[in-house]
Amino acid sequence: MSELIFDSVSVRYGGRRGLTAVDGVSLTVPAGKVVGLVGESGSGKSTLARAAVGLSPVSAGRVLLGGVDVRKLPRRRPLQMVFQDPYSSLNPRMTIGESIAEAMPRGPRSVKGSLRESDSLKESFTDRKAKRAEVARLLELVNLDPERATHLPGQLSGGQRQRVALARALAGQPQALIADEITSALDVSVQGAVLNLVREVQRQLDLSMLFISHNLAVIRYLSDFVAVMYLGRIVEAGPAEQVLTDPQHPYTRDLLDAAPSAHKSLFDLEPGATADAEPPDPHHPPAGCRYHPRCPVGPLVRSDREICLRADPAEDSAPRRHAAACHFLIRPKEGRPPLGT
Ligand SMILES: Nc1ncnc2c1ncn2[C@@H]1O[C@H](COP(=O)(O)OP(=O)(O)OP(=O)(O)O)[C@@H](O)[C@H]1O
Ligand code: SF4
Ligand SMILES: [Mg+2]
Repeated sequence: MSELIFDSVSVRYGGRRGLTAVDGVSLTVPAGKVVGLVGESGSGKSTLARAAVGLSPVSAGRVLLGGVDVRKLPRRRPLQMVFQDPYSSLNPRMTIGESIAEAMPRGPRSVKGSLRESDSLKESFTDRKAKRAEVARLLELVNLDPERATHLPGQLSGGQRQRVALARALAGQPQALIADEITSALDVSVQGAVLNLVREVQRQLDLSMLFISHNLAVIRYLSDFVAVMYLGRIVEAGPAEQVLTDPQHPYTRDLLDAAPSAHKSLFDLEPGATADAEPPDPHHPPAGCRYHPRCPVGPLVRSDREICLRADPAEDSAPRRHAAACHFLIRPKEGRPPLGT
């Protein structure tokens, strides 16, 4: 499978009075691995994801899949995205089978660049019988009865629709998949099954995956690596276990402290958590470190840290095991219980 690279990607909405929702983000999803992306509402996670599939306007930088600029990939892109809302992501007038078949490549793929030749020579599914068989295979892959192919989305539950959305994404024979809050609109009782399915499918097909979620327990369950986003920037990134047990950025630490349990949303904040302070206006990001107005170890608390007011910390501004954009080394808190207990 192919590596997915965000190379200094910026996305700006609106004109002079607009906002830079994603600001020079570089992030790599290694081939066949899962990168979990977390961050509070409005931090730019969806905008970044949508930039990769051409749905948000990239104003600088580029996104590469297997070394190829995604803007040069064919329309049935080997990069697919599954969205939060299974109700709006399927055409209500098309049967499940038609929706899935529509997403299949029409002809042999010819992707210039480094995608493997075997991928570019995959058979087209022009033959109806072959298409029907492929629809049935995909439905079975997502644990749905192939008989569902003749049903309309309205006849399915939310969880079943999200399985269809996944099957539709897989019909494009993707090298990489982006999943944006795919379980948050579902009933809690079916979220676990959908997550298990995503994990199984990712492993089985060796997909590279960017997985966006508010829920840190879910992120931990699925991810090999974790990236933390704050106000349009990645502030911390590294191996999942390291980031989640030994956070290097005060914001990540606040998120972990605010996550009450494995089963509640990350942003069901507990009273007193630092992260309940008002997030800054994205139209006017703070100077210096963007987190400084909320930082519990920053210049508003410690007068010797006035550098945070004027200098924007780079990801490697202090020697650490993994990247974090903070001028200072944060001492580990002792006695943190493992996440999810
Ligand atoms: N189409 C748009 N036009 C203008 N501003 C937008 C647009 N889409 C998003 N934004 C703004 O860009 C910023 C980032 O939004 P985005 O939806 O990417 O955040 P997010 O991290 O996905 O949040 P959530 O967790 O709520 O899904 C926010 O300030 C949002 O209001
Ligand atoms: S650079 Fe300063 S304000 Fe920013 S996170 Fe680090 S300590 Fe806090
Ligand atoms: Mg979002």
